Amino acid sequence: MRLRLASVPLLVCCLVSTVTANDSEIFENNCAACHGVDGRARTPQGKKLKARDLKESRLSDEDLLRRIREGSRTPAGSWLMPAFADKLTPAEIEASARHAKTFRPAEPKAP
Ligand code: HEC
Repeated sequence: MRLRLASVPLLVCCLVSTVTANDSEIFENNCAACHGVDGRARTPQGKKLKARDLKESRLSDEDLLRRIREGSRTPAGSWLMPAFADKLTPAEIEASARHAKTFRPAEPKAP
């Protein structure tokens, strides 16, 4: 009994770490040039384009996914953040969004 219970956290831990490695890889390959591996946008390109510190981002899941798919432009129409709809699969877009949210501080616990 004790043995079976002990294997549960092990399994969960391995599943989670596989997902996390993949998410961070996708983020590092597609987003980190601007947002930095730490999400804080302190890279030369991030500073130049004034990319957002993802720690401060509070976009809803829907808006976050839309931003990654569609990117964003200045009012004059030049690109700030590229659109990823044609560059990444929907699963990769979700993975990058998941990773982007890991920079946010933990939600305060409900009372
Ligand atoms: C070429 C640089 C560049 C790349 C690459 C890039 N971004 Fe951005 N990103 C920006 C800039 C600049 C902004 C700020 C402008 C804006 O808010 O529209 C931004 C804004 C954002 C925001 C909105 C934050 C907020 O709350 O307003 C999110 C989320 C985001 N990026 C996630 C990503 C993810 C995830 C990727 C990779 C799939 C990515 N970005 C790739 C430049 C980039």
